[in-house]
Amino acid sequence: MLFATLWQRAPLAQAQTLMFDIIILLIMLLFVLILLFVIFSAFLGYLITKVPFVPTSAEDISFIVQKLTIGKNQIFYDLGSGNGKVCFLVHKLCGAKCVGFELTWWTHLWAKIKKRCLQFSPLLRGDAQRAERLLFKNQDFFKANWREADFIYGYLFPFLMVRVEEKFLQEGKAGSIAIIRDFRFPNLKPTETFYLPKKHEIYIYKKQV
Ligand SMILES: C[S@@+](CC[C@H](N)C(=O)[O-])C[C@H]1O[C@@H](n2cnc3c(N)ncnc32)[C@H](O)[C@@H]1O
Repeated sequence: MLFATLWQRAPLAQAQTLMFDIIILLIMLLFVLILLFVIFSAFLGYLITKVPFVPTSAEDISFIVQKLTIGKNQIFYDLGSGNGKVCFLVHKLCGAKCVGFELTWWTHLWAKIKKRCLQFSPLLRGDAQRAERLLFKNQDFFKANWREADFIYGYLFPFLMVRVEEKFLQEGKAGSIAIIRDFRFPNLKPTETFYLPKKHEIYIYKKQV
């Protein structure tokens, strides 16, 4: 009797084990695909921009927001926004509209997914409006128009700073402020220079009226 029952159950148990194996395999496959996407897009992003993704620390971002008294009616651009960390935090701290430009796919996608989570997560319902004032563009910041920005943040590489300086001078609106981390503009004299909590230098440039 017992033997007969076990015999009947065996195919079901085998099917369940097979199903479990397939699910584990699919999860592993998904993981490998995500990893390949990150590696490939980081490599491609580096080939295009020659600038690796290195995030600014949260402590430094808070310091910048307080020191420059960025307000909720102002517009903040992050040139090369990576995973959006600067934009998310600046917006969270002061409510400013933040726009991030990024060419590397995986970091850009990360920022977009995080933004979606803010919009749709029931736990963060209060942040839905907030997410509408956060924009992430998969775009070369040199091809964007900087005229509406009150603050332009750049944590980039020295070889780019001549072009960033030129564009800021040509296109930045009067009174706007460029916040440049570590790699200063080659020609303009900064209006202010200070050290961040994590010992990085920040150069402030105000576009003359
Ligand atoms: C050092 S990371 C800084 C990331 C972020 N701003 C932060 O401070 O946390 C610089 C980023 O700029 C991006 N980048 C460089 N040149 C770019 C360009 N012309 N247009 C858009 N993004 C660019 C790179 O892909 C990289 O992710």
